[in-house]
Amino acid sequence: MVEVVSVPGLREFKQRGEKIACLTCYDASFARVLEEAGVDALLVGDSLGVVIQGQATTVPVRLPEMVYHTRCVRRAAVRALVIADLPFATYSEPKRALRSAARLVQAGGAQMVKLEGGRERVEVIQALVREGIPVCGHLGLLPQSIHRLGRYRVQGREPKDAQRLLEDACLLEQAGVELLVLECVPVELAAAITAEVGIPTLGIGAGPNCDGQVLVLYDLLGLTAKPPRFAQDFLSGKGSVRQAVADYVAAVKEGRFPSEQHAYR
Ligand code: KIV
Repeated sequence: MVEVVSVPGLREFKQRGEKIACLTCYDASFARVLEEAGVDALLVGDSLGVVIQGQATTVPVRLPEMVYHTRCVRRAAVRALVIADLPFATYSEPKRALRSAARLVQAGGAQMVKLEGGRERVEVIQALVREGIPVCGHLGLLPQSIHRLGRYRVQGREPKDAQRLLEDACLLEQAGVELLVLECVPVELAAAITAEVGIPTLGIGAGPNCDGQVLVLYDLLGLTAKPPRFAQDFLSGKGSVRQAVADYVAAVKEGRFPSEQHAYR
């Protein structure tokens, strides 16, 4: 029998020390292959703005586009948990966030929504959780804030920034977040956050000590012109996409990916 990955089941991964293997996914064909290769969670990321639409950032992505791609993925997903990104400026206050998240869940079939930000998102998260919508947080590098940040770079290197991120992680957990993405943060900070919170963390450019990993599928397939340092081309030298993804899943589960070369200090 297929063991379906559920939202409550995410904590069980952490409790039994099994790493969660997550990949971004934007369509039904890849969803089927990723599932067959053992991926636990499919993130319909707003990175689709860059890798599918050819935009320079994730900022232009619209809610109907996210709903469409989520629906495509959800049709093929049987075992894996489907998480969908709330796009830029669609969750600035609780009422708006509820309307946006409801579209992703009802029309798209998402089982969890992801949003970027720390303490300033607590009210929004509480409103979604009250409505029964599971939430994944996202701390560290926040791609939707790229115009404020100026460039994509590691976050939390200064002790005061690291402390703030650690506090944010605890506040998000208290607000009801069930899963937490940590993007581009130093290895030690990701390890400290992972040890502090009871919910699982998913690292991307956050070193090997998170409770799981997430990668942009097109980075894993070697399709990105300038891949980030934390990515690895798993397709190179392999016979098929299915084999490349299976190797990624095995490398995550066995703690072989990410390694030192993918980490920031
Ligand atoms: O949109 C996305 O692909 C993401 C991952 C980078 C975590 O948010």
